[in-house]
Amino acid sequence: MGITVSSFTSVSLEPPLVLVSIAKGSAMHDALKGARSYAVNFLADDQKSVSDRFAGRTQTKDRFEGIKTSDGVTGCPIIEGVRAVLECRAWQVYDGGDHSILIGEVVAARALNSKRPLVYYSQQYTTTEAMEYPAPPSDIVW
Ligand SMILES: Cc1cc2nc3c(=O)[nH]c(=O)nc-3n(C[C@H](O)[C@H](O)[C@H](O)COP(=O)(O)O)c2cc1C
Repeated sequence: MGITVSSFTSVSLEPPLVLVSIAKGSAMHDALKGARSYAVNFLADDQKSVSDRFAGRTQTKDRFEGIKTSDGVTGCPIIEGVRAVLECRAWQVYDGGDHSILIGEVVAARALNSKRPLVYYSQQYTTTEAMEYPAPPSDIVW
């Protein structure tokens, strides 16, 4: 079971909490709402097809068919080639209108490579680009 989301947000540092919101109409909704743990796989910029796959845009019976994965510490699938992964223990579920807001406690976090992340902007896939800033004044700590 897996779904493409862009609604990921960090929520809290202590405890470390993150959220995703899942449409109540999604076929994944009830299973995710009841899941004890889940992994958030951050796709890299060469993984558009994986995003389309888990958004239900390609016809496959099982979204994981042909996708190479390994098991994380929670047993959740980590997709090969992702930029980073967070594994979460379900912490709370809130009602969010036509979505449910799933808050997870991060129990494991790993950056897996240095690829750029896949970004969805203005209904298109893109990626990030470093911006050039003038050097900050030396008395400012970022
Ligand atoms: C870039 C992108 C971001 C998405 N973000 C979300 C999201 O945050 N929450 C959500 O419920 N659906 C989101 N979707 C849509 C789901 O991926 C899609 O509706 C779902 O996989 C459809 O299949 P299902 O109804 O069988 O679950 C997103 C889709 C794309 C392409």
